[in-house]
Amino acid sequence: MDPVIRVENVTYSYPDSDRPALDGVTLDVARGSFVAVLGSNGSGKSTFAKHLNAILLPAAGRVLVDELDTAKEDDLLAIRRRVGMVFQNPDNQIVANVVEDDVAFAPENMGVEPAEIRRRVDGALKQVGMYDFRLHAPHLLSGGQKQRVAIAGVLAMEPEVLVLDEPTAMLDPKGRREVVSTVEALCRDRGITVILITHHMDEAARADRVIVMDRGRVALDGTPAEVFPQADRLRALDLTVPETTDLILRLNAAGMALPTGALTVEACAAAIGEALA
Ligand SMILES: Nc1ncnc2c1ncn2[C@@H]1O[C@H](COP(=O)(O)OP(=O)(O)O)[C@@H](O)[C@H]1O
Ligand SMILES: [Mg+2]
Repeated sequence: MDPVIRVENVTYSYPDSDRPALDGVTLDVARGSFVAVLGSNGSGKSTFAKHLNAILLPAAGRVLVDELDTAKEDDLLAIRRRVGMVFQNPDNQIVANVVEDDVAFAPENMGVEPAEIRRRVDGALKQVGMYDFRLHAPHLLSGGQKQRVAIAGVLAMEPEVLVLDEPTAMLDPKGRREVVSTVEALCRDRGITVILITHHMDEAARADRVIVMDRGRVALDGTPAEVFPQADRLRALDLTVPETTDLILRLNAAGMALPTGALTVEACAAAIGEALA
């Protein structure tokens, strides 16, 4: 694999804390992949995310982004440009009174020239489906729309990697779908590496890879079809499984022999239909 991010034996403890928030995490993230990160509250997901663009620095071990070490002061700007972060609350990420000004904020601060800013802002707003709202006031938008504007603001930096820390936690189901489809398209169509931290199993089921964290360590790591059938293990970590997997596992317990990797509603329905035919 061609790793865009390498996390090597990273340990981190918050001041005054008696146990590490990250405890020897080692993993590579393949360029252009869509990775979901799961884990119960306090398992270390946000701490992990903040290591990817040097908001936090490892106490031991190291994090490399395109071979740039997050602990090296000289690489900081280059790393922040490569790895964009989107957080849970869109209201905390919007800084301007007009959508397009908000998206222009970061490139303006980076000293990008005006014609290039115009190009990036228009491009980013189109990529998240918010171009028609470019002259609107952000505070009047829905949660899903605001979050897509926040994503456009990050895209205007032309990042290599997009890290989203529970971006759908405050959204209604429609907003959730908007944001996840947008993020998935950025990965599939634009080749942007996506690291999506989420509590929603249906969102994680769409990823190439699922990483499950527990008490600062990687507890499970594999494709959705490998991770989700491990229902007992996931439940022991205070997580659920996607509804499709749950249904298949229950039907199998009742005597059917369905493929446990059928994660989408379509694949699940097709598998059941085939078994009944
Ligand atoms: N700012 C902080 N100060 C002290 N401890 C923290 C801080 N942020 C998180 N922690 C602790 O670090 C551990 C991991 O937290 P976090 O990375 O936020 O987990 P998650 O995002 O999976 O909920 C938890 O035990 C949490 O209480
Ligand atoms: Mg968190």
